[in-house]
Amino acid sequence: MFFDHLPKSGYVCAHRGVRSLAPENTMLAAELALVLGADFWEMDVQRTSDGELVVFHDDDLGRTTDVSARPEFCERAPWPVHAFTLEELRSLDAGTWFAAQDPYGTIARGEVREADLGRMRGQRIPTLEETLAFIRRNDFPMNLEIKDLIHAPGDLSIVSQVLRKVREARAEDLVLISSFNHDYLAEMRRLAPEIPVAALVEERHPEDIEGYLRDLGAVGYHPDEAILDEDTVRRLAEAGIRVSPYTVNHMDRALSLLDAGCFAIITDYPQTLKSRLAGR
Ligand code: G3P
Ligand code: MG
Repeated sequence: MFFDHLPKSGYVCAHRGVRSLAPENTMLAAELALVLGADFWEMDVQRTSDGELVVFHDDDLGRTTDVSARPEFCERAPWPVHAFTLEELRSLDAGTWFAAQDPYGTIARGEVREADLGRMRGQRIPTLEETLAFIRRNDFPMNLEIKDLIHAPGDLSIVSQVLRKVREARAEDLVLISSFNHDYLAEMRRLAPEIPVAALVEERHPEDIEGYLRDLGAVGYHPDEAILDEDTVRRLAEAGIRVSPYTVNHMDRALSLLDAGCFAIITDYPQTLKSRLAGR
């Protein structure tokens, strides 16, 4: 299982791939996570209008694709992912925006390789299948976040659908499933007790974190770093809970959380955190 590949703690997780050097949730960002030495990577999964599973973060396509420049889609603004077929999504350019906007300033600072810049145009929204084949091929563990499908409240079917794809790819040992929708996690536990799950939390901790996770069957806890302090990390780590806060982009803070006993740090800068750790 996932934790056999990562048996200790103190790991670095690339948030949406290496999101500071490549367009998030693309195969280029995933490949950079592997090449630059992240211990695993995180991505987001949601469903298309024709029931396929794709890797994409936002509810809408506007920010990270060229959909707004495509006249045939103008009447579907603000372009929710669930209103597009897989074929339509695959026709979008999911990479040029990054080269044009340089959202982290990494291109201006010369941190992005020419070859990677050249590959940005033409990045497509990946299918879940593509990413599973990639992790299987490379034995590269992945935190698969199932996005809360708020347009389909109470519908848990995405969980069995994800599970089917994971099993078809024989990637059960490489995935850690997380979600802000904890009903999805309970469903995953019911269907596949061999696959570990982690609870994503923002704004506030459950009153009794340990009890809550125990009841849910979650071995991982992924809180927003803004609500997490080092004492809580120490307490949870002692209880055997793998704590992986998101999204920690200040390296001193990341190191302090790792020292307190975090299982992993989910960061947009895995390359920087890896080199800080190597330099210790
Ligand atoms: O899984 C950690 C983090 O990705 C959760 O927040 O919104 O970036 O998917 P978000
Ligand atoms: Mg995510």
